[in-house]
Amino acid sequence: MPFKCIGDEELSNLREVIESGELWRGVRGNFVARFEEAMCSHLNRRYVYAVNSGTSANEAAVAGLGLEPGDEVICPATAPIFVSLPVFSAGCIPVFADVDPRTLIISPNGIESRISDRTRAIVVVHLFGQPAPMDEIMAVAHKHNLMVVEDCAQAYDCYYKGRKVGTIGDVACFSLQQSKHITSGEGGFIATDDPEIYKRAVLYSNAGMPWYLYNLEPPKSSPVAGIPTRGHFAFGHNHRMSELQGAVALAQLAKIERFNAMRKQLVAIIEEELDGCPGILLAHVYPGTQPNYWTYPVQLNPDETALTAARVHHLCLDEEGIGVGYYHEINYLEHVFQEVERKRMTPFGLPLPEHVHYQLGLCPNAEDAAKRTLLFSVHHSHDPEVLRKQVQALRRTLERHV
Ligand SMILES: Cc1ncc(COP(=O)(O)O)c(C=O)c1O
Repeated sequence: MPFKCIGDEELSNLREVIESGELWRGVRGNFVARFEEAMCSHLNRRYVYAVNSGTSANEAAVAGLGLEPGDEVICPATAPIFVSLPVFSAGCIPVFADVDPRTLIISPNGIESRISDRTRAIVVVHLFGQPAPMDEIMAVAHKHNLMVVEDCAQAYDCYYKGRKVGTIGDVACFSLQQSKHITSGEGGFIATDDPEIYKRAVLYSNAGMPWYLYNLEPPKSSPVAGIPTRGHFAFGHNHRMSELQGAVALAQLAKIERFNAMRKQLVAIIEEELDGCPGILLAHVYPGTQPNYWTYPVQLNPDETALTAARVHHLCLDEEGIGVGYYHEINYLEHVFQEVERKRMTPFGLPLPEHVHYQLGLCPNAEDAAKRTLLFSVHHSHDPEVLRKQVQALRRTLERHV
């Protein structure tokens, strides 16, 4: 199903950018800076820095922690690989922890079993728009003095015990890619209350140049032997957001409540149509949380059926002419991680510590639950009746086979 959600407000902002002739943000930016300020208010965080993708935001967030090369960052086994590859880019080692099989979200026990004397941080992904059990995760983090990155790429406006996710850990990262709750086509941002994290994230995303907002004092460059220098204070890329992206993102943010309401209507259809369906477990919700689903996960109940999600997808396709998404994102099984395991070296040439492995069997809950997890996209632009037909097709298929 296509993702159509761009309208006159985005066009009008884009026209303003084009007519201004200033398509890049420069030091400050008009639309990008306005988006950052609006997002600070939306999240109630002190600093937001916008970048050109969610992956860049993950990199900037990890770089913002100020870790040393070879430090270990614990990541969930089940997440888009855009979560763990940036850990390599930031010079660190991703270490995969097992997940709660009901949600595919990193589990506090999984985290604790992977801690070594080089562990410095955890990346928690609020997967599919389900808030992670943050009290338990923060307790593990505090016990072991670890920093916490909340990946909210799929989790705008989700609440954990009354707090928006993305405001609990040290830094949060979000994506504005086309399929997300709001979009600028590609894009992303980090959000934090910590000025040092913000400054390091900006340096990393701007080739080391301290183009800070929020009245933060930048360091001054000084000449070397009378030769002027430009002022690159750290290693970094150019991950800046353009004004074109900022123009669209700002217009989208103004619509987020309406989009959220539409998503909730789609979720209600799934839950209604699958109520009492044989072999199905609806999404598990942790107590005290309010999900805002990006994609709605259902699981095949292992007590009732041995069918896998991939098999159900094919049965639906063959018998009903309409497929259902199924989960396929266990990071360490991907070729790129298999290569790192084979060479025992990260893509940036760091040796892989002896206790770190990327191989089948590493996270049994993740491997088992992934095989049983089906996914429905609940993008706010979807036609509810098209989704209803898809869910009904799944129900009929399961009624025939379970
Ligand atoms: C949880 C998560 N983190 C990070 C990313 C990376 O975002 P982007 O595609 O904008 O680079 C994604 C993208 O799908 C994601 O789902």
